[in-house]
Amino acid sequence: MSSEGEAEYFCKDFEWEDLRAEVEANPSFAYHFESASSSSLQPPESDVEAWKQFHLRHASGKFFKERRYLLKEFPELLSCPPNSKLLEVGCGNGSTALPILRANKDLIVYACDCSDETLERAKEIISGASATTFRHRFSTFCCDLSTNGFPNWLACNPCRGQFLRNCLSDVREDNGLHFTNPCPSEEFDCCVGGVDFVTLIFTLSAVPLERMPKSVKECFFVLKPGGMVFFRDYGLYDMTMLRFEPDKQVGFREYMRADGTRSYFFCLDTVRNLFLGAGFTELELDYCCVKSVNRQKGKCMQRVWVHGKFQKPALSSTLKSIQEKQTGEFVT
Ligand SMILES: C[S@@+](CC[C@H](N)C(=O)[O-])C[C@H]1O[C@@H](n2cnc3c(N)ncnc32)[C@H](O)[C@@H]1O
Repeated sequence: MSSEGEAEYFCKDFEWEDLRAEVEANPSFAYHFESASSSSLQPPESDVEAWKQFHLRHASGKFFKERRYLLKEFPELLSCPPNSKLLEVGCGNGSTALPILRANKDLIVYACDCSDETLERAKEIISGASATTFRHRFSTFCCDLSTNGFPNWLACNPCRGQFLRNCLSDVREDNGLHFTNPCPSEEFDCCVGGVDFVTLIFTLSAVPLERMPKSVKECFFVLKPGGMVFFRDYGLYDMTMLRFEPDKQVGFREYMRADGTRSYFFCLDTVRNLFLGAGFTELELDYCCVKSVNRQKGKCMQRVWVHGKFQKPALSSTLKSIQEKQTGEFVT
């Protein structure tokens, strides 16, 4: 069992199925399995507006905790070729971006959020950590991934089309770490040429369920073939879900905090359907179940997160799946 601060590694302190049985047998949790009752909450103008207000209220930067465990969960971030590109989506104050920048001195990090306020804070925190080393490898932009998607300078339409046609000649499929750009040189006039990795760390749960498919597709479009999404988010029956009262429920497994920000709690099938539906293949997907102790209150808490790793197919795997469909057989 770990203390609250360090309790985030990919591990199994308990079986998720045991927790599920316990929760589903407890009548006091019954409202969590029903569709939303009539919520007394006045929805804010929009979920994005609620996040902007959230960041204005938390401008002191306290909403920042470096997520160092990510390097253990996603070691590809350390072993990728120099100048690989990462897009951190919904970066907040940079809790995910900073440990990655520290750990890999050759990675270029683009970070976006729907709030200008938090992007300013992320820049301050990151340049405060190392102004010289990070300046040329870290840039931010404001966007709402669930409605407008990512800007064209990240991956322009011709490049996106090229990615989709999977026009790659020498992508190796071993671990997805060897990419070839569709253009012959690393220099792109049109855009930065897409990214090798996308991190979605506690961001998708903040987006309303009906806009999640578009959000995941956007990530697919800007990834180079063979590129990967690293996903971590709230899991079904996490302690924080069970603490939501009935009037905070705004949809099935979807809750709204008093400040108007939302949180969805994922089961593995929902995550799988979202990513496979966008065209990804699944590399890893599991619950991370951690018992953590709040030393101050002396309470043991059962935390559940979903850990996922998904890959955008490259030419050879796409051809393989087309051949499989045509012949109705598995090609080995
Ligand atoms: C819980 S925070 C996660 C921050 C960060 N990824 C981390 O690891 O700590 C969720 C972030 O997603 C951002 N966000 C919410 N909806 C968004 C949207 N539609 N487009 C872009 N960012 C969004 C919020 O402003 C917030 O900073």
